[in-house]
Amino acid sequence: MCCIMSLLMVCWDHVDHHVVSHVKSYSYRYLINSYDFINKSLSVSPEEAARFGSYPYLLNNKDICKNQDVLLLLFVKSSPRNFQRRQAIRSTWGNESYVSHKLGVVVKVVFAMGVHPTSLQKKLHRELHKEHMNHGDLVQQDFLDTFHNLTVKLLLQFHWTHENCAHAHFLMTADDDVFIHLPNLVRYLQDLRRQNVQNLWVGHVHRGAPPIRRRDSKYYMPFDMYQWSSYPDYTAGAGYVVSGDVAAKIYQASLSLNASMYIDDVFMGICAIAAGVSPQEHVYFSGEGKTPYHPCIYEKMITSHGHEDDIRSLWKAATAPQVEGISSGLVGKLYCTAVKMKLLCKPYFTNTYSCAAAFT
Ligand SMILES: *[C@@H]1O[C@H](CO)[C@@H](O)[C@H](O)[C@H]1NC(C)=O
Ligand SMILES: *[C@@H]1O[C@H](CO)[C@@H](O)[C@H](O)[C@H]1NC(C)=O
Ligand SMILES: *[C@@H]1O[C@H](CO)[C@@H](O)[C@H](O)[C@H]1NC(C)=O
Ligand SMILES: *[C@@H]1O[C@H](CO)[C@@H](O)[C@H](O)[C@H]1NC(C)=O
Repeated sequence: MCCIMSLLMVCWDHVDHHVVSHVKSYSYRYLINSYDFINKSLSVSPEEAARFGSYPYLLNNKDICKNQDVLLLLFVKSSPRNFQRRQAIRSTWGNESYVSHKLGVVVKVVFAMGVHPTSLQKKLHRELHKEHMNHGDLVQQDFLDTFHNLTVKLLLQFHWTHENCAHAHFLMTADDDVFIHLPNLVRYLQDLRRQNVQNLWVGHVHRGAPPIRRRDSKYYMPFDMYQWSSYPDYTAGAGYVVSGDVAAKIYQASLSLNASMYIDDVFMGICAIAAGVSPQEHVYFSGEGKTPYHPCIYEKMITSHGHEDDIRSLWKAATAPQVEGISSGLVGKLYCTAVKMKLLCKPYFTNTYSCAAAFT
């Protein structure tokens, strides 16, 4: 691999920076695969660590989980102005009373946010306050709600869980433009709970991802902030689940780590190394992409990313009675496998779910 790389670099100096960084990163991930530098270089004192994520609460409701057997605490990373998205979630997959009536479990949906960086603060705060009076599901801290503060929002979620909902069996974090098939997710989690599964961190896993050094990228990573050639494994921030014990371990790890790494899902990977946890792949958790619309997919899907206007129609379609059991029996199974292969296994086309999902 090294020979090929040096040859390429000598003979052809226009070789894509992208390719080189991936080769370096994969080599690091699969040949060296030791991320001890995280424990060594990113540890800070508890006082220093506390500076990254202890902003005062502006809106809070400490009683959300009180005296309830919470199967899943589901944090949605929202932002003050995304009122429409929150409403869409509350009336579809995030409808807690639907979940408790139809599925017989307690799922708590909480929206995490900071302060809008430019809006007229007073007016927006009044509106948020009103929304919070109606729904009681907002948790807001006094930091600027920007892309580069997403790690602060991650810390908020783990701190809040530790303080107010440590008994939840599972914790999930998701973007506010994600569609979650709650009935499928609940069934999956109930299964895990019956088996008393611990040490769980599940989602769409990125392995051996290289830091992006191009300044024009949204995910640009300065060398000062992260000097190594490969990120630890992490799950796509669009939506992932951890078990309660992992939530506690990640919280503990975050109390002595330098949280200046602003890509929140990578920071989660850093915490996980320090906590001795590793992520596992689930083919029906999506990364960037949007689900293909088909009942055979709806029957199995967990998350899908990039939804705004179609959340209501998708919820209706994905929970329609004809979806359940569509792949049962030999004919159903063959039919759905064929459909999913056609939808997911096209070459050179990045889908939400990998081709492997067609066979599960
Ligand atoms: C970092 O430290 C934690 C606990 O102190 C340990 O569980 C973990 O394995 C360490 N990670 C590495 C890569 O050495
Ligand atoms: C939530 O679900 C319940 C029970 O299924 C239903 O009666 C209610 O209208 C739903 N709420 C919203 C906001 O759609
Ligand atoms: C993050 O929030 C803090 C507190 O409001 C603010 O001082 C800081 O500038 C924000 N950082 C970014 C990158 O927006
Ligand atoms: C955290 O890391 C940044 C580099 O990303 C560094 O500038 C800063 O000094 C570190 N903070 C502490 C408290 O070590």
